[in-house]
Amino acid sequence: MGESRLRIDARDDRVVATLDRPDRRNAIDQALVDELHALCAELEETPRTLIVTGTDGIFAAGADIAQLRERTGDDARRGINATVFDRIRHLPMPVIAAVDGYALGGGAELAYAADIRLGTPNARFGNPEPGLGIIAAAGASWRLPEIVGHARASELLLTTRTLGADEALAWGLLSSVHEPDELLDAAHAIVDRIAATSVRATILTKRALLAPRADHPRIDGELQAELFDSPDKRARMTAFLERKKR
Ligand code: COA
Repeated sequence: MGESRLRIDARDDRVVATLDRPDRRNAIDQALVDELHALCAELEETPRTLIVTGTDGIFAAGADIAQLRERTGDDARRGINATVFDRIRHLPMPVIAAVDGYALGGGAELAYAADIRLGTPNARFGNPEPGLGIIAAAGASWRLPEIVGHARASELLLTTRTLGADEALAWGLLSSVHEPDELLDAAHAIVDRIAATSVRATILTKRALLAPRADHPRIDGELQAELFDSPDKRARMTAFLERKKR
């Protein structure tokens, strides 16, 4: 077993996963992908909100180019990063990316896979893959258009330019911008809001958000049916209706 590339701070209602490979600017190699899969397995088993962040003013500089150079067409078809980012995307509870510094290539795609993105004034997003002779194949070509719209995503991916925090905020890629020493507190404040609501309703809200367009509105009714029949819904609504009587 080599050195861990992911620091995990696991609490009852949340997990903070810190990419921790600063000497390689948190480049995502197979070992990190394996650790992310292990984390996903845990969060699928025991759903909790996930905060993903970086270290030393860098989120992640993309896939590990030394490994990438040696990968073949068969490796590409296996979608090494795409698969783990998709697993992160589909974790039962929300995923928050807290981005300070560069989120490039696969690092940007990891952030695109989150439900909510927060940044600092130093946040920088970009997909430089064509400059390396490849495409951004781990979510950028379809998740980025979903987030910022097709025209903006096309401009970013075709020019490979880097997007700063102000523009990322204006485009809706970032929900909010915080000073670096306040970034994690801001992410925790969001988790606190989520934690105050029903876990099951949060899980089913995420499921509804990720459902294909063609499944709506049928799936919303199905998901709601489970909640309407739950004692938790009755208790929460009764508490609201009786709050003035106490
Ligand atoms: N894969 C492998 N190694 C990487 C890497 C990556 N994606 N990104 C950085 N590194 C390594 C560098 O090779 C360097 O190694 P060295 O110390 O042995 O020379 C070390 O990490 C530090 O990187 P450096 O470029 O010197 O840091 P910097 O702070 O000046 O610049 C970046 C940071 C992120 C702007 C720059 O490293 C960069 O452009 N990285 C590649 C981004 C990219 O193209 N990603 C897409 C991959 S598909």
